[in-house]
Amino acid sequence: MSEPEFRPGLADVPVAESAISFIDGKRARLEYRGIAVEALARESTFEETSWLLLKGALPTQRELALFDRDLKQNRSLKYRQIDILKCLPPSGHPMEALQASLAALGMFFPAKEDAWESILHLVAKTTTLVAAFHRVRHGEEALAPREDLGHAANFFYMLTGKEPSAPVARVLDACLILHAEHTMNASTFAARVVGSTQANPYSVISAAVGALSGPLHGGANEEVLEMLDEIGDHSKAKAWLEDAIATKKKIMGFGHRVYKVKDPRATVLQELAEHVFTETGRPAAYETALSLEAAANTLLGPKGIYPNVDFFSGIVYSSLGIPRDLFTPMFAMSRVVGWLSHWTEQMRHNRIFRPEQVFTGQRDQPFIPLEQRP
Ligand code: CMC
Repeated sequence: MSEPEFRPGLADVPVAESAISFIDGKRARLEYRGIAVEALARESTFEETSWLLLKGALPTQRELALFDRDLKQNRSLKYRQIDILKCLPPSGHPMEALQASLAALGMFFPAKEDAWESILHLVAKTTTLVAAFHRVRHGEEALAPREDLGHAANFFYMLTGKEPSAPVARVLDACLILHAEHTMNASTFAARVVGSTQANPYSVISAAVGALSGPLHGGANEEVLEMLDEIGDHSKAKAWLEDAIATKKKIMGFGHRVYKVKDPRATVLQELAEHVFTETGRPAAYETALSLEAAANTLLGPKGIYPNVDFFSGIVYSSLGIPRDLFTPMFAMSRVVGWLSHWTEQMRHNRIFRPEQVFTGQRDQPFIPLEQRP
């Protein structure tokens, strides 16, 4: 039998059959359960989209009302769960706090709790953990969730103590919809791998958060703003890009394994950004981003490298006063729905992941006693 071909990064290697989302990387098309993400970002809510992803079809009015109620009832944290956040170093990254606190959360629930109960806890409480860690690291008390607010608006309230205006709540809700699911990628694969061992769902989501935290994955949105700061002014964007390409730097927020055109989520996010800026004013970083994109269209476009979802999300969040190190945790509190949808699918037809390796080491070596080694 011939050796199986080794594909670094598992590029183009299917690792699961999935009916959750679909991407056409040439046509800039992303669908959740067959529905275009643009339609969901404009027409749906995060709660409704979550049900769609988790259950496979849009909810009825009654199903949505019950799901909404169940999420609201599961948002709060126990004192000891907040105490865990208080024991973590305030200078640590909120993604690390989220990963640790999600793993710990599993210890509070019975090992054999019903899968749907775990899903409700994880979707509802991830948001509360992100907001609560942010407050306790600044010496403030964590705020109790408000049942009169939707998922996105309640997050903003728990983070800032202020109720968002209707347009800000709408933009945040759409951002959560846009980040909720994205076929097979490093963090989703991590969730499926850990799930395949029958580990508890809190460990599954904690592992996925760890995978998302890296700068080549979810961590890129934070680095985009650092890059825009480094460029400084929109007039310098083209020269900066030419130099970055010459010195083989990765341009953060650009490029994608699947999309060889502009990521459809980046297009919707840009529209949303324009909308937010009518309230907050157009930030200098956005002007720089536009100039960088224009230069990149000429210099990187021919290689199929265009803006991805992370290029505009950070600009939207920072215009709402959200600190940079919360961008990726916000990605996680939305993507938790995609991960749990994949976990549910994996559990239905589970076989533990056990891939192959291509062995490149030495064989049949003698054991040399310590005193005889050179
Ligand atoms: N800047 C400059 N060159 C790039 C970039 C970029 N952002 N992305 C790809 N390339 C080049 C790369 O250098 C390589 O060139 P060559 O063939 O000459 O060696 C070619 O394009 C193929 O790149 P690759 O790294 O093999 O592509 P990949 O599919 O393995 O990686 C990626 C995809 C997203 C990791 C990569 O594009 C990247 O590092 N982008 C910057 C980080 C980023 O924005 N990540 C967010 C991704 S979207 C949200 C998410 O998944 O979380």
